[in-house]
Amino acid sequence: MLEVPDMLYMEEKEMKIAPSFLSCDFSKFGEELVRMDKAGADYIHLDVMDGHFVPNITFGAPVIKWGRPYTKVPFDVHLMIDEPHRYIEDFVNAGADIITIHLECSSNIGDTLRQIKSYGVKAGLSIKPKTAAEEVFPYMEIVDWILIMTVEPGFGGQSFMADMMPKVKVIKDYAKTHGKEIIIEADGGINAETIGMCQDAGIDVAVSGTGVFKADDAAAAISALKAHV
Ligand code: DX5
Ligand code: ZN
Repeated sequence: MLEVPDMLYMEEKEMKIAPSFLSCDFSKFGEELVRMDKAGADYIHLDVMDGHFVPNITFGAPVIKWGRPYTKVPFDVHLMIDEPHRYIEDFVNAGADIITIHLECSSNIGDTLRQIKSYGVKAGLSIKPKTAAEEVFPYMEIVDWILIMTVEPGFGGQSFMADMMPKVKVIKDYAKTHGKEIIIEADGGINAETIGMCQDAGIDVAVSGTGVFKADDAAAAISALKAHV
């Protein structure tokens, strides 16, 4: 009988976990990066907020650049800012691997996504809860990554909006019929209680801020999120 490796029967890919550093201890940012790397983070999720696009201010490209030498885990930079086109080069130079802009921001979306890709960096597009999934369709040719917000952007520690999950199928079905490979990330309120809904919906990358950083053991928290069935 023909021996078929088990791998062929495995699910295409397991869900990846991206700890959101919004909840880290910034007095030891470097150590926190090393801690999440050792704990099994697949991506480092970095939330940039300008106090204009969202009602909160965090950090910019210089902080990301300081953090870059501490880990080789890819930096997933979530820009919750207006006019992101003005700062793309700064985030590329700071060491971003994926740069995600918001569809609701004030820059030209197509041009900014192309600008990101011109540097050889992955381009992501995020939608806030009130934005319909179909609104990403015009950009599907250009984007590598779609970030579905499962809370209103701006703050960590909010409750997961389960009614965002049908957006995953809408986008995945569209991608499939257009022969497009897309990664779908969800962000906001993801923890041990809500990760199952992300898995059922087919999310590829789950962001978790308080769910990972407030846990006593980050490695156990990340493994539990990945293992949840
Ligand atoms: C919210 C940010 C999230 C946030 C998630 O605007 O985009 O990345 O840090 O935090 P939790 O997992 O605590 O909801
Ligand atoms: Zn985020």
